[in-house]
Amino acid sequence: MKSSEGKHENGMSRRKFLRNTGATAAGAAAGNVMYRKAAATEALRQETLALDGGTPAVSFPGERLSAATKWPRYTEADKEAVWEVLERPQGAVYRDLPILEQEWRDYHDVPYTKAHLNGTSSLTSLFFALDLPPGSEIMVPSYTFFATILPMRFFDYVPIFIDIDPRTACFDLEDAAKKLTPRTKAMIPMHSWGLPCDMDHICAFGEEHGLIVCEDAAHAHGASLQGKKMGAWGDMAIFSFQASKPLPAIEAGMGNYQTREYFERAAAFGHYEDPPKFSEDSPYRRYHGTGFGQKYRIHPIAATLVRKQLEVLDERNAGVQARVRELNDRITQLPGLSEPYCRDDMERSYYSINMLFLDEQEAGFTRAQVTRALQAEGVRARPGSYPEQHKFNIYREEQWWHHKPDVPDVLPGTAQVNSSCIFLPLLYEDLPELTEQYIHAFEKVWAHRQEIARV
Ligand SMILES: Cc1ncc(COP(=O)(O)O)c(C=O)c1O
Repeated sequence: MKSSEGKHENGMSRRKFLRNTGATAAGAAAGNVMYRKAAATEALRQETLALDGGTPAVSFPGERLSAATKWPRYTEADKEAVWEVLERPQGAVYRDLPILEQEWRDYHDVPYTKAHLNGTSSLTSLFFALDLPPGSEIMVPSYTFFATILPMRFFDYVPIFIDIDPRTACFDLEDAAKKLTPRTKAMIPMHSWGLPCDMDHICAFGEEHGLIVCEDAAHAHGASLQGKKMGAWGDMAIFSFQASKPLPAIEAGMGNYQTREYFERAAAFGHYEDPPKFSEDSPYRRYHGTGFGQKYRIHPIAATLVRKQLEVLDERNAGVQARVRELNDRITQLPGLSEPYCRDDMERSYYSINMLFLDEQEAGFTRAQVTRALQAEGVRARPGSYPEQHKFNIYREEQWWHHKPDVPDVLPGTAQVNSSCIFLPLLYEDLPELTEQYIHAFEKVWAHRQEIARV
């Protein structure tokens, strides 16, 4: 696939470039850099690892760091806005919800939005809106939260588990192409940890094969590709505003819809009061007073928090991104350590963690050894993992399905990401001193990697 090839080329040429500069060392400037690097590594080698009783590289006060990584973050203005809702709860439902939905439409430049109770109910409404025949296959990543997949069970759809690209942890279109059948009707890529999937290629693939493209943008508020926001690419998309998400409202969700049909079906499903607001010729106006059996209205306090947090979303995302760059630009120079590949035409966001990949062979030591050494140095690093849905019982037991899914034994890209990633915390405040100490800790641990590998 074009995008993947591009990534290969980029990844390879960068590494090759680094190796070549090391091998040839042509010119005095390169020689000086080499000399300084070797001297710095030697100095780091002279330091005693914290594992062996040396002074930890990170002396930054733990409680200050905890304050800087605290999430969610609400201000006095947010609290006042919540208090106002408590003073006039009905007004909040009837006046504020349409304003929120308008603001969300404007932010994403999409024609229709509907606020829901949470991301899961937004997905259930999306599956109802799809209106596909029973047995229709929907391509989903296994590397996701259950809600991207399981609500489709209520409508007798069948999940097809698609692998992720180990360089991005996002939807692998090459695997999707292999698993396409005449029954495949839709796909739902998920933008893992805020990194956009290749939506341009995915949408082109969808168009070529007549598939409806949806997005699970529960991790990717404000992220974009070619200037177009995640959630604006697919025919439908959902967001979660649960407390850990980049836009946190404790518990809430939203759906984006490109057509009136999708919007009206998704809105009528869990919003019994919405049908009379639809135009005269809507086939769903008749369901006023009942909808289709669910009540998925967003909590008005959460809606208020979404509006307040949306005001600061772009600024927050930019701050988090800048701090990640300060750290990652340095530590991803270390052998075997990399971060998810992000295309130049993407603006990613970050959900909850800064994920790194460790190539144990190239680095010369294992993830367990690295994280233990980093933790001893005072770095809040941990081996990462995220659910692999295909491993859960519910997908394997026939009694829960009219059309039982085909469950793969292994998805290699998914397995690779979960066995190689390291999670670091995100910083929501500028702490240059801490970042320098983290860089020092990584470089120190890498300088000692041969002895760490022996233990
Ligand atoms: C990828 C993904 N999709 C959907 C959801 C569901 O959102 P909610 O928890 O708001 O129901 C989540 C929540 O964690 C998620 O991570």
